[in-house]
Amino acid sequence: MINEAQIHDILTKLFDHIEFSSQPSGLYDPLRYMMELGGKRIRPRLCLTAYALYKEKFGEDILQPAAALEVFHNFTLIHDDIMDQSPIRRGQATVWNKWGEDTAILSGDVMCIDSFRRISKAPAKVLPQVIELFSDTAAKVCEGQQMDMDFEACEEVPMSDYMKMIGLKTGVLIAASAKMGALIGGAPKDECEKLYDYGYSLGLAFQVADDYLDAYGDAATFGKPIGGDIINNKKSWLTTRALEKADNILHQQIIDVADMPVETSAQREAKIARMKELYDKLHIEEDAKYEIIRLTDEAMSYAATMSNGIRYELLRRFAERLVGRVK
Ligand code: IPE
Ligand code: IPE
Ligand code: MG
Ligand code: MG
Ligand code: MG
Repeated sequence: MINEAQIHDILTKLFDHIEFSSQPSGLYDPLRYMMELGGKRIRPRLCLTAYALYKEKFGEDILQPAAALEVFHNFTLIHDDIMDQSPIRRGQATVWNKWGEDTAILSGDVMCIDSFRRISKAPAKVLPQVIELFSDTAAKVCEGQQMDMDFEACEEVPMSDYMKMIGLKTGVLIAASAKMGALIGGAPKDECEKLYDYGYSLGLAFQVADDYLDAYGDAATFGKPIGGDIINNKKSWLTTRALEKADNILHQQIIDVADMPVETSAQREAKIARMKELYDKLHIEEDAKYEIIRLTDEAMSYAATMSNGIRYELLRRFAERLVGRVK
């Protein structure tokens, strides 16, 4: 079986040598900028990890599909940063912030197209399934992103709707990354589905962790400013849980935060501080940590039904790394 060090080497080589068109530079420079900012590359890593469960060595067959997952993810981030008006990502200016929204839209579009071109390089034997999986996933991410924005205008959303939303915007791409690696690696059908479920639960844990870090992370390590979700009135896991848990008075106080102004930086700081004060009263930070562990355990329960010792260990280590994220 392929080991973690080999996965790491392949990932590094893949993204060190990834090729894109270059002209016009106004279109392709932002794309390259975004890809070169790095990121954790968890989706291609998971795809390669799932493939590794079934193969003795890496073949060319998996490389472009794995790269496609990362290019697609970076496309969603470029558009997400316009939608969330986020000025900083990975510690640097976001594409819209550096080049303007029009450029960010078009560079994002061409990345989405590039990702489909790379997906089409999957082996002929599984190509129809891979294209179906990827297209279905891409549409679901858009659905989740629309729900995320719709929720900004809602006073409160049920936890079940929040979970559905993050399942779509984040869960399905991580799930598809695992399933795609398994499909191309030649896994039996039932194991492809179990890896999908493993990735989906991990994706949920990953998004709850992202919401947690958005309020409680260290900006320098996280690479994004702290409090963006509170400023945008996002129904993050923290807010959703707080509203679910609060008594009448606290409930109204949380809802009132949404109307606090955000024009000046002092106003933004005050809004963030007020929301965190309310979270503290309800011990939301602790609840979030518990939820991240619960969802990761759920992911591992799927891994447990399909893997022998070494394979389980590889999936466990991947999950452990993800849940321990600080960025
Ligand atoms: C950020 O994804 C968006 C979410 C789904 C939370 P990542 O945290 O994987 O971003 P990078 O690629 O590592 O920067
Ligand atoms: C983004 O969720 C999910 C996608 C990009 C599809 P967030 O809006 O929470 O991601 P960040 O925090 O900006 O990375
Ligand atoms: Mg967003
Ligand atoms: Mg965002
Ligand atoms: Mg976030």
